[in-house]
Amino acid sequence: APTKVSKICCIGAGYVGGPTCAVIALKCPHIQVTIVDLNKSRIDAWNTPDFKLPIYEPGLEDVVRQCRGRNLFFSTDVDKGIQEADLIFVSVNTPTKKSGVGAGFAADLKYVESATRQIAAVATSSKIVVEKSTVPCRTAESMRTILEANSKPNCRFDILSNPEFLAEGTAINDLFKPDRVLIGSLQTEEGKEACEKLKEVYANWVDPTRILTVGLWSSELTKLAANAMLAQRISSINALSAICEATGANIDEVAYSIGFDSRIGPKFLKASVGFGGSCFQKDILNLVYLSESLHLKEVAEYWRQVVEMNEYQKRRFSKRVVDTLFNTITGKNIAVLGFAFKADTGDTRESASITLIRDFLKERANVSIYDPQVPHEQIWQDLEEACGDMGIEEIKSSVTLRPTALDATQCADALVIATEWKEFREGIDWQTVYDGMNKPAFVFDGRLILGLEEAERLRRIGFKVTVIGRGNGM
Ligand code: UDX
Ligand code: UDX
Ligand code: ADP
Repeated sequence: APTKVSKICCIGAGYVGGPTCAVIALKCPHIQVTIVDLNKSRIDAWNTPDFKLPIYEPGLEDVVRQCRGRNLFFSTDVDKGIQEADLIFVSVNTPTKKSGVGAGFAADLKYVESATRQIAAVATSSKIVVEKSTVPCRTAESMRTILEANSKPNCRFDILSNPEFLAEGTAINDLFKPDRVLIGSLQTEEGKEACEKLKEVYANWVDPTRILTVGLWSSELTKLAANAMLAQRISSINALSAICEATGANIDEVAYSIGFDSRIGPKFLKASVGFGGSCFQKDILNLVYLSESLHLKEVAEYWRQVVEMNEYQKRRFSKRVVDTLFNTITGKNIAVLGFAFKADTGDTRESASITLIRDFLKERANVSIYDPQVPHEQIWQDLEEACGDMGIEEIKSSVTLRPTALDATQCADALVIATEWKEFREGIDWQTVYDGMNKPAFVFDGRLILGLEEAERLRRIGFKVTVIGRGNGM
């Protein structure tokens, strides 16, 4: 029987590598797990004595507290991590390319490539190399070529694809009870043996019937396909939300009712100001790029439309704000509640909030922002990147960051809910907010946190309320 995995190294201590390998360490006390990263300040944050971790994720701190220093280690010594391990996860970032061939669509694989080259250069024994980052279909093949061309005589490399399906904000739960774990391997003897070894790791806490083993390329494509289908549901419901706003139908009622069809199901049907996050847009653009390179033009067009609809949804929402405030927001004060791309995360990648604020700034509005988790320097960095033609000084002259939601709404003409944080659903004293705002006081709910009755209650206070997916007055 093949020897069991006893030492794991994870290259990349980010949103994927960190939580995933921390949970592996928790569930497999007999395995030593070392997470390495080139970014020293990130590793230092993982190692802080008071557990001020570099990412905010409910339940994560508790997991790290239980195993850090026991069988979970964070280090910048990438070479040592590689040399000691018998299984290596590659969880580095794969952003969309910003220039060159495939710019704006294809994934930039430079981090995957350099991590792979490093494995080949420093490994002195055989390794199972697992691609964990979301990558375009057939990346494993490139990794294999690099490893085989650079390996030493007694080193064998087996490549597996093991995409991560966790969602931020619920990562720990998703990892504890995954819908499925997917492992792709070459269908050779060695490939299947490597697959078995990784399966054994997960079998320490995951029901074996939920551990799926497929071919390498199916596994790679599944990750893109799953994210594309999920994003497509949101774009579909958001397209319907536009019809609702124009007709008097209510998107919540429509979503609720179609969700009862067991073929459709109730989840992931919440209309919103647009999806964000590091995966959806990136993965669909990857799929579009892949389709185009395979000369499947119609397929590429089909998926591209999912991203187009998302852009449209964001544009449509900021236009509705401008239209409602008598066609101008120049010089007006807009309070934006929420900057993260969804609740329960401090992550802002592709957040709809960024696009909205950029639109408001283009209209020369003043914007005050509150988010319970996003660090202020992150907000400045995102706005600077989004508002290409405005310098940071100009941005800072129109934007203020506030310590509380109530603070942000002081003297605002309009309040925009951009992230569905629980405290916006439950913790807002609307009368006090109303008293502090300019009149007429407008509320725009981009996250459907106000039901029909709540919207009515706000109107009785005096607010002018607009909710996504419902006509004016609903
Ligand atoms: C997603 C996938 O869910 C996960 O399986 C994959 O591994 C990574 O990408 P994530 O981006 O972390 O996870 O969060 P998710 O909950 O999927 O939300 C993505 C975006 O869609 C958020 O902006 C969210 O607000 C939005 N969304 C989600 C909606 O607008 N409506 C919904 O019904 C669900
Ligand atoms: C459909 C709806 O299912 C039903 O709820 C509505 O009331 C009327 O329209 P129907 O057209 O009778 O019902 O059959 P359905 O089973 O939905 O199939 C429609 C088409 O989709 C068929 O050609 C079927 O072969 C095809 N299909 C269905 C697929 O190609 N793949 C699938 O996974 C499911
Ligand atoms: P994800 O959301 O996919 O986890 P992140 O950007 O949060 O992406 O994390 C990826 C991490 O990978 C970053 O902290 C980055 O510093 C790290 N990284 C990238 N390339 C390498 C490399 N060659 N060696 C070690 N770490 C790397």
